[in-house]
Amino acid sequence: MKSLIMYYSHSGNTARIAHKMLHALSAKGNAELLELRHRDSKRYKIRHFLARFFPALTELSENLPDFSQYDLICLGSPVWSGKPAPLALKLLSHLKTVKGKHIIYFQIYGLKGSGESAVNYVKKILRAHEPAKIKALNIAFKEAHDEQKLDIMIKNMIEQIR
Ligand SMILES: Cc1cc2nc3c(=O)[nH]c(=O)nc-3n(C[C@H](O)[C@H](O)[C@H](O)COP(=O)(O)O)c2cc1C
Repeated sequence: MKSLIMYYSHSGNTARIAHKMLHALSAKGNAELLELRHRDSKRYKIRHFLARFFPALTELSENLPDFSQYDLICLGSPVWSGKPAPLALKLLSHLKTVKGKHIIYFQIYGLKGSGESAVNYVKKILRAHEPAKIKALNIAFKEAHDEQKLDIMIKNMIEQIR
C-alpha cells in the first residue's frame, strides 16, 4: 500500500501524530510525509496570523504530488475555530482526484465538543469527490500526549483500511 501523509501543525502536536502515522504506515508499504506550509516564507508570520481570520489569504507552498499514485491519503490538522486550520482547508480544495481512494483525516482539538463539527465538515467536502472510505481520528489535546493510547488509536485506524 502506498500512502501519503500531509499535515499542517502550528505548535507541533499534529506533526507528532503525522510522524507516528508515517512510522505505522511504513510498516505496511511505502509511506511519504508532506508538511503543508505557507507559500510566502518571508511574510510567513504575518500571513499565518492573518489566515486565522481570513483563510482566503492562505496559499500552499508546495507543488502538490499527483494524488493518483497513492492508495491512501492522510490529512492532519489542528482544529481552529471549529474547522481544520486554513492550510488544511486549502489542501482539501485540491483533493478532487480521490475517487475510489482511502482517506484518513486526523485532527487535534483543544476544546471539548468542537472536534466533531470539524470532522463532519471535512467528511462533507470529501464525500463529494467519492473516495472509497473516509476515516477520521479525532484526538483530544490530552490524548495527543498519551503515547500508548495514540499508538493504539493509530494502529486500529490503519487496520480498518483494507
Ligand atoms: C488560532 C487557534 C484556534 C483554535 N481554535 C480551536 C477550536 O476552535 N477548537 C478547539 O478544540 N481547539 C482550538 N485550538 C486549539 C488547537 O486545536 C490545539 O491546540 C492543537 O493541539 C494544536 O495543534 P498543533 O500543535 O499541531 O498546532 C485553536 C488553536 C489556535 C492556535
